[in-house]
Amino acid sequence: MAGSNEALPGLCFLGLLLCLCSSSAAAASTPDLLYLNLLWPGGYCQSVNLGEACCIPTTGVPAADFHVQSLETYDSSSGNPIINCDSQCRFLINPLVDLIEDMFAYWPNLSCPSNNGMDQWRHVWCTYGNCTGLSEVVYFNRTLQLRERANILVTLQNWGIVPDASSTYRLELIEEALKSTLGSSSFSVECERRYTVWPLLYQDYLTRIRICVSSDATTIVTCPTVLTTNCDSKVKFAPILYAASPGRQGDATANPVRLRSAMDMLL
Ligand SMILES: *[C@@H]1O[C@H](CO)[C@@H](O)[C@H](O)[C@H]1NC(C)=O
Ligand SMILES: *[C@@H]1O[C@H](CO)[C@@H](O)[C@H](O)[C@H]1NC(C)=O
Ligand SMILES: *[C@@H]1O[C@H](CO)[C@@H](O)[C@H](O)[C@H]1NC(C)=O
Repeated sequence: MAGSNEALPGLCFLGLLLCLCSSSAAAASTPDLLYLNLLWPGGYCQSVNLGEACCIPTTGVPAADFHVQSLETYDSSSGNPIINCDSQCRFLINPLVDLIEDMFAYWPNLSCPSNNGMDQWRHVWCTYGNCTGLSEVVYFNRTLQLRERANILVTLQNWGIVPDASSTYRLELIEEALKSTLGSSSFSVECERRYTVWPLLYQDYLTRIRICVSSDATTIVTCPTVLTTNCDSKVKFAPILYAASPGRQGDATANPVRLRSAMDMLL
C-alpha cells in the first residue's frame, strides 16, 4: 500500500512528461492557424534599407497591387510559429508551371539586387508551406487565391483611400474599410516608421496587412488572439516606386515587359 502511494507522484510526473511531449509533437506537425502576410510595395519600398527603393525582379512583371510575402504556420494555443518541419525539404519549380505568371506578378521579391523570386519561394515553402501538409501547388495556389479574395486595394479605393505621395489617412478609416470585407477581428494593419528628424519627426507608412486564415488555407477567419497594429493614428499610403535596374524599365507597371515564357527563363 505504502509502496503504491510512493509510486503515484512518479507516475503522475511520467504522465505529465508524456503529455507534454506528445502535445508538442502534435503541435510541431499540425499548425491550426495560418497568417497571410500581404505587402504594400509602396510602403515597403519606402522603408527598406533606410528608404532605399526596391529593385524590379529580373523576370516577370510585379503587379501594382498588394503582394504576397508569406503564409505562415502557427500553433494557436501556444502562439508559436511551426516552422522547418523537414530538414530534407526541397522546393521544385515544375509543379508551379500553371501559376508562374501569377507568382511573378503577385509574389515577387523586390529586394535589391534584382532577382527572380525563386529563393523567396523556396524559403517560404521550406519554412512554412511544408508544415501545412498541403502539396506545393495547392499551398501556393491557395495563398494566391486568398490574396485575390482579400481584395485589399479595391476595398481601400472604394473607401476613398488611394495611394498618394502627400496625403495621410486616418488609421481608423483604413481599419473600417478592411473590416467591411475581411471581418472585424481577422487582420491587423502594419506600418514602417520613417524618421525625418530622429526621434521627433516621423511618418508611418502602411506596409503590411496580416490576416488570419484557416489551417487548410481556404478561409479568412477571426483571429484567436487579437492582432495589434503598430501604426500611428495617421498613416501614409505611398505610391509604388521601383528603382530602375539595368535593362529594365523603371516603372514596371507602366511598361510591362512581355515574356516569351516565364518558365524558360527560370529553368
Ligand atoms: C516536406 O518535405 C519532405 C522532404 O522533401 C517531403 O518528403 C514531404 O512530402 C514534404 N511535405 C509536404 C506536405 O509536401
Ligand atoms: C488554383 O485554384 C483554383 C480555384 O480552386 C482552380 O480553379 C485552379 O485550377 C487552381 N490552379 C492550379 C494551377 O492548381
Ligand atoms: C530576396 O532577394 C534578396 C536580394 O536578391 C535576397 O538577399 C533575399 O534573401 C531574398 N529573400 C528571400 C526570402 O529569399
